[in-house]
Amino acid sequence: MASKKVLEYLDDNRQEHVEQLCDFLRIPSVSSLSEHDEDVRRAGAFVAEELAGLGLKVETIDLGGHPLVYAESELRPDRRTLLFYGHYDVQPVDPLELWTHPPFEPVIEDGILYARGSSDDKGQLYAHFKALEAYVKTGQELPVNVKFIIEGEEECGGHSIYRYTEEHPDKLACDAVVISDTTLYNETTPGICYSLKGLCYMEIKVTGPAMDLHSGSYGGTVRNPGNALAAIVASLTDEDGRCRVPGFYDAVLDLDQEERDGFAALGYTDEILCEETGAPEPWGEKGYTTLERMWARPTCDVNGLVSGYGGEGAKTIIPATALAKVSMRLVPDQDPEAVATAFKEFVLGNAPRGVKVSVEFLHGAKPVLVPRNSPMMQAGMAALEEGFGAKPVFIREGGSIPIVGTFQDCLKSPVLLLGYGLATDNIHSPNEKFLLENFWRGARTTAMLMAEAAKR
Ligand code: BES
Ligand code: ZN
Repeated sequence: MASKKVLEYLDDNRQEHVEQLCDFLRIPSVSSLSEHDEDVRRAGAFVAEELAGLGLKVETIDLGGHPLVYAESELRPDRRTLLFYGHYDVQPVDPLELWTHPPFEPVIEDGILYARGSSDDKGQLYAHFKALEAYVKTGQELPVNVKFIIEGEEECGGHSIYRYTEEHPDKLACDAVVISDTTLYNETTPGICYSLKGLCYMEIKVTGPAMDLHSGSYGGTVRNPGNALAAIVASLTDEDGRCRVPGFYDAVLDLDQEERDGFAALGYTDEILCEETGAPEPWGEKGYTTLERMWARPTCDVNGLVSGYGGEGAKTIIPATALAKVSMRLVPDQDPEAVATAFKEFVLGNAPRGVKVSVEFLHGAKPVLVPRNSPMMQAGMAALEEGFGAKPVFIREGGSIPIVGTFQDCLKSPVLLLGYGLATDNIHSPNEKFLLENFWRGARTTAMLMAEAAKR
């Protein structure tokens, strides 16, 4: 149990903490767009200042991309050490016209905070900062040593944190890594995540004529890159929702019966899915329930498809090029590089004649699976139960946090995925939001976790 003073401090300062979080959210730290480089830097500086203000020793590390912020408390040998990871960068905001409020001008309506990054991941990360602040400002001794490694390249596939983790495992050495960049099961039930999907992100480019052609003058004489790409995309999956890349399923670890039963017991229905997504009906790989597909089956999806004219009315052309972005979400024990190679061979091996096709691996992430019965899991469960006032359930996630695999390999410490967001927070989408209640409960949970981790 975290001390009463710590929890009271969090209760007494709720409004102020929200205002501070809003200052963080006003910085448009979109890491994938170079026009925002300076903003990303400012968000890193905000993090560094915040942690320095709490008495931590802070370093800003520039490895050529967006800066990493590392911070540590006094490291006492008689205390366990928790390493907190999070990211201060955010996704782009387009399509901007679908936001009901400007994405970097946070507003609160009915206890919900709307802003890009509110849930992914600034709001969740900030809950950790406020938990630490509660110990520091009330003069309560920290139950654990804390380290923070916060990056600004999570959303853009940057390399800084990999390099740093591989080169400085001693610096990041810890008894557990704690990450809040995932979700609760739902608004009333907290969840503890034991698996993340991996990712293999590909780009397919098809080029034909040197310029767009009049589709009357030249139609029927050369291959249309749009048609060719459509054929390639159509070849990637079959009618049963399975990916047709050879060997794609070879390394997939099947769910065990206990997991399947556990998922089924959660009572997630197709009605909930349709309500959450607005889709007319569920769809996906045959033979698996919705939660099984969402959390534990690999997928192959177009993320973007661009060719020719998309404006008002008709324009009669044979487009010169066509482009597809395709992501494959992977599950344990699939390997992103092996999947990328098989994908490339499949697409190039079946490429339509008459156009040039190129395939590029943009970035990847390893899938993650952590044991469900570790002492750290128990600490997380206890903290969530106290913080959210309900027993947590085990969940998996369809999303990826690319650095986690590297933490597991290099630090050899258990990883605790303690999410405070909701699947319905519209992350990566217009009108991203974060429930203030989850922010406050999250801060309490982190405060509790520090105490629980010290006990086990
Ligand atoms: N916070 C998400 C990961 C996540 C998404 C967890 C959904 C739970 C549910 C993270 O910031 C993220 O978006 N990761 C990217 C990684 C990619 C850019 C390599 C993702 O999953 O698309
Ligand atoms: Zn994200």
